[in-house]
Order: sequence, then C-alpha cells, then structure tokens
Amino acid sequence: MRLRRMATACACAVVVAASLGSVSASAHGPRPPKPQDQSLKALAARHNLYFGTAVDVNAYADAGDPQYKTMVNQQFNTVTAENAMKWESLEPTRGVYNWGPADAFVAEAIRNRQLVRGHVLTWHSQLPGWLTAGINDGSIGPAEARALLKQHITAVVSHFKGKIWQWDVVNEAVSDPWETPSAIHLGGNTGSFKQKWADTLGPDYVADAFRWARAADPKALLFYNDYNLEAFGDGGPGDKTQFVYDLVKRLRSQGVPIDGVGSQGHLGTRYGNYDVFQASEALQKFTDLGLAVAFTEVDVRSLMKNADDPAADANPADVASRDQAAAFNHWVLLQACLMNRHCLSFTVWGFTDRYSWIPNWFKNPPEGSGCLWDADYQPKKSLRTVQGTLLASTPLARIPQTPRR
Ligand code: XIL
Repeated sequence: MRLRRMATACACAVVVAASLGSVSASAHGPRPPKPQDQSLKALAARHNLYFGTAVDVNAYADAGDPQYKTMVNQQFNTVTAENAMKWESLEPTRGVYNWGPADAFVAEAIRNRQLVRGHVLTWHSQLPGWLTAGINDGSIGPAEARALLKQHITAVVSHFKGKIWQWDVVNEAVSDPWETPSAIHLGGNTGSFKQKWADTLGPDYVADAFRWARAADPKALLFYNDYNLEAFGDGGPGDKTQFVYDLVKRLRSQGVPIDGVGSQGHLGTRYGNYDVFQASEALQKFTDLGLAVAFTEVDVRSLMKNADDPAADANPADVASRDQAAAFNHWVLLQACLMNRHCLSFTVWGFTDRYSWIPNWFKNPPEGSGCLWDADYQPKKSLRTVQGTLLASTPLARIPQTPRR
C-alpha cells in the first residue's frame, strides 16, 4: 500500500514536470511549450472550461492592427460582441435591421470554432435613440414597449438561432445600493432612464423576456447577467447579490426558462476586494438553484495617477502595486469558477488595454489597466496569474447545462 502510494506520487511528479516544460528535450523527446506560451483556451481545456473575450469588431477588422484578430483566435474559444449585438446596433432605425457586423462576427466565430455568448437582448442602455426618446416622451407607452421588446427578442434570437451558446437575456435590471432609493429594486435611481425602463415594462418583463427567448431558440442557454454579484453582502435590503438570488430563485420556481447567471466581474483594485471563498460561495448559491454560472465581463481596473501624463502612470512602483492587486482579483474570480462544476466559461471584457472601455468610462477619477495584456500586447501579472492558475489547479469534471424547457 505504502509502495503503491509512492509510485503514484512519482508518476504525478513526472507529469507535472513535463507540463511545466522542465524535462530536457534530448532525454524525453521534444520540449513541450512553456506554460506561458500556451493559449488560454488550451490551458482552460484541462478544466473543460471555455475561456473568452469581448470582441471589438472594428479592431478585429482593422488591417492596420492584425495582432488583435490573431490573438482573439489564438487565445479564446468563446467570444462576445462588445457592442455589435446591442439593440442600438441591430435596429438603429425603427423596423430596419442592420445585421451585417453582427453576422460577420458570428460567422468568424464559427469559422474559428469559438462558441458565441449573445450579448444582449434586454437592457436599458445602448437602446436605439427612437426607442429611448419614445419612452421618455411617452409616445411609446407600456403596451407598445412590451410588444417592441417581444418583437426584438423574437427577431434577434430567431435570426441567430442555433448559433448562440449563451444569451444574456436580461442585463443589469437591478439597482445598486448607492442609488436612491437605496433598497435594491428592479430599476435604478429615481428619475433615471433605468427606472423608467423598468416601470414602463412592468415587473413581469424579466420572466417574459426569458419565455420569448426560449420560444425563439430552444437550445441556447439563457442567462441573467449583472455586475456586483461576485459575493453576497449582509443579505439585507441593500444586498444586490441577494436580490438577484431571490429573483432568479423565484423565476426557477415559477418554471421560467432561465439557465444561468452571468456574473460580469468588473472589479476595481481601489475597492474592498473579495477573497476566493466569498466568490465561490456566491457561485455555489446560484448553482444550488440548478443554474449554471459564468464570469462574463471580467476586468480589474485601477486608479491611474494622471490620465494626461503617461509618464506619471509608468512609475514602476505604481505599476507593480496595481498589477499585483489586479492579478489577485483575476485569480479570485478564476479560482472560484474552477472550483464550481457548473461554471461554464470565463470571459474577459477585452484582453488588451489598447481597446479597453475602462479609460473611456471611468474618467473621474481616471481608471485603467484592467486587462490581461497591456496596450502594446505585452503580458501583465494578471495574465501570468491566470495561466499559472489554469495550469496548476485541480481539474474538476465540469457539468454542461441543459436548456430548461
Ligand atoms: C460597454 C462597452 O464595452 C463599451 O464599448 C460601450 O461604450 C458601453 O458598454 N456592462 C455590459 C457591457 O453589459 O455591455 C458594457 O459594455 C460594460 C458594462
């Protein structure tokens, strides 16, 4: 018995050494690639996990920067259109669909054997101007808004039927604790468009959106997607994760065809950071409901010294501390996902700081540096941490999700 155990330990050591690339080429055949030269999708495949990125379709098509497209296809086996499948992109003029860029994106993904996360069907943001204006001035009332939403979901899901792995059916429907009123609810700040959107559609719109999506594609996995769901708080009226948990639990118990929860994973190093068990407990609570989970938009931004003076932000001490903090947060989310058999995919919201949405969005105070590669496509500590975690964590048998009828 004792001997057998030792023999097993020896065999393991050889396997680990081989996968770390430390066995000499002459003695044992060709040297395997160094772990840091392996793609994220190859490293994630050990875990049966899909590793993805949001894709900026303009950067992808830019012949002046071929490295972007090369890396999307080398590194990732699931992709999300960063903007090309949003309502404002698909139906800029009422009744006139512009499928071109989204179709090209999906065709490229299929050609490159990448699974597509469809983003996004129901969201208060990046709606076409005609729809926002109509809801704001009252010319589009509740009944018409619901009919338009049904028509939109049906048209879009039918158009891409059979080509989408996971749909973000409803995105960011829930308020944040710093909004007014602070008790979490469907909607946002009093008087905001987010609140108007929720009020116009009425509370049942969430369940209906899932039903309409399921009717149009019985095989796609249907997700509720939101930010600040990475951990539970105190469970009280200001706990957004708890509110979303209660919402999806109710939907499941009502038989609504919801298959998963997407935790966006937009983190910032200036906030209190979660530990890995807080993150894995949150996933566990969702998956205990029979749902799958996915990290859908991961990036970890940091405060920048001076947005107008790159030299100020290149100070080695500042770079080191923000890179380490960002790496830690990437590790927490990835490790939590790896530890849960129902965590299907880990998607970053852009892989290079070159095109990241962060500096455009978080300006006051300026934040940046949220991605795995820097703006010159150089690897950062976050990338190395993700690679090392994929390489060294114990693989679990991942359980695929079946669409709920
Ligand atoms: C962002 C895009 O990255 C930006 O290019 C765009 O200007 C605004 O939207 N949550 C989401 C994403 O669900 O769709 C958002 O994407 C980021 C936050």
